[in-house]
Amino acid sequence: MAHELHDTARAIVADHRGILAADESTGTIKKRFDAIGLESTEEKRRQYRQLLFTAPEMEDSIGGVIMYDETIRQAADDGTPFADVLASKNVIPGIKVDAGAQDQAGFPGEKVTEGLDGLRGRLEEYRELGARFAKWRAVITIGEAIPSVGCIRANAHALARYAALCQEAGIVPIVEPEVLMDADNTIERCFDVTSRTLKWTFHELLVQRVDLRGALLKPNMVISGKGCPEQAPASRIAELTVECFLTHVPAAIPGIVFLSGGQSEVEATENLNAISKVGGPWPLTFSYGRALQASALATWNGEAANVESAQAVFAHRARMNALAAAGDWSAELEEQVAV
Ligand code: 13P
Repeated sequence: MAHELHDTARAIVADHRGILAADESTGTIKKRFDAIGLESTEEKRRQYRQLLFTAPEMEDSIGGVIMYDETIRQAADDGTPFADVLASKNVIPGIKVDAGAQDQAGFPGEKVTEGLDGLRGRLEEYRELGARFAKWRAVITIGEAIPSVGCIRANAHALARYAALCQEAGIVPIVEPEVLMDADNTIERCFDVTSRTLKWTFHELLVQRVDLRGALLKPNMVISGKGCPEQAPASRIAELTVECFLTHVPAAIPGIVFLSGGQSEVEATENLNAISKVGGPWPLTFSYGRALQASALATWNGEAANVESAQAVFAHRARMNALAAAGDWSAELEEQVAV
């Protein structure tokens, strides 16, 4: 079992491939559809996910796809379940299993992620449906006098208990402690908060006997808050991100897969490229949601006639990020591609 987990974790990030996070909950995908004036029906959501999963050549850049509960139960037009569509392309199917971040009792302005109750049974079912890895997202908010150690530790503990249950079920856990980039903090503050978050996360993972070689870490980059007047350049993001991770992330982790967290598509690619150029002992790649999908979704616009061009836009974004994971991306490559 341990070997299977190690192999799966390594396979997801092999050859500089990354992860497509297509696990938006029904509420979140509705927000994305609203933004382009599209009604969010179950059938439209299925069509959209089908567009992404069947995009030609996406498998050259994408090693795993995270789905939502509704999506893993859906199938392509020809009746093939989405998990099988992905597996047939050598893309490993994954599933979001947390139940969302809720206000943490006693900690105003802070959140703790729920979903441990009944998780053992749900994991068993998801494995039968084809999932070989899972995701749980904790949210750490930067503000005046927060995050508290009480919030960081509660989230780290839940992440560790989730990860242990995943491994028991033969599923690779993606451990996602996301320090949000929505505030007006400096990059140095992000460095400090990310450091504390990672320190407690790995402490709890080890206490709960999680096998680090069979897990992946999905963190934020160390980056300036969106509202900070001084935005650190990619070179500084890369320097501080790698310094933070070298201090707090054991080399046993088979991959670090960054979230995009609200960065624009090209920013997320440029920053990943800079981080990969500095490098560390772990494969570094992407697990992007918005930064892989924004242009593709806008191009599709809910119309069958646009499927092919939207697939080309998505495959291009995925390829740019796989190049960035290798440190081989440059802005000129963006311009060479006509879509
Ligand atoms: P973003 O890349 O849009 O932040 O989404 C990734 C993700 O899965 C967050 O949980």
